[in-house]
Amino acid sequence: QETPAERFQRQHMDSDGNPNNNPNYCNQMMRRRRMTEGRCKPVNTFVHEPLVDVRAICIQPNIRCRNGQNNCHKSRSSMRVTDCRLKNGSRYPNCAYHTSPAKRQITVACDGNRVPVHFDA
Ligand code: ATR
Repeated sequence: QETPAERFQRQHMDSDGNPNNNPNYCNQMMRRRRMTEGRCKPVNTFVHEPLVDVRAICIQPNIRCRNGQNNCHKSRSSMRVTDCRLKNGSRYPNCAYHTSPAKRQITVACDGNRVPVHFDA
């Protein structure tokens, strides 16, 4: 069975990925990472930084997550990310996504072992 930490890596980590100039990045990656099975996951972000750097976010101070839990942490530095957002009118099983590269601080939820399990913002 997939652990929450493995699930986070599948859904959010693409350390060596490079979406630059590939408008199909999200269409390909959302399918390849199995987020278009059963439904089209509406929004998802991929992080293009080393896993050790993303894990290190877990030692930042705890902050409130969107769901009210307090196990979230914000990165000190900006990180390279790609936001994937389902296109208006896209209907399962034809999941079509907008691909938007960005560089910003990210917020993740971590578990008791201080590994990321959820991408909050
Ligand atoms: P994501 O939210 O990263 O897109 P997900 O498939 O929704 O991915 O999985 C989030 C995982 O992080 C879940 O295992 C969730 O646990 P619960 O199902 O028990 O909620 C876990 N998680 C841990 N802390 C969380 C938090 N503060 N907010 C949301 N999910 C959290």
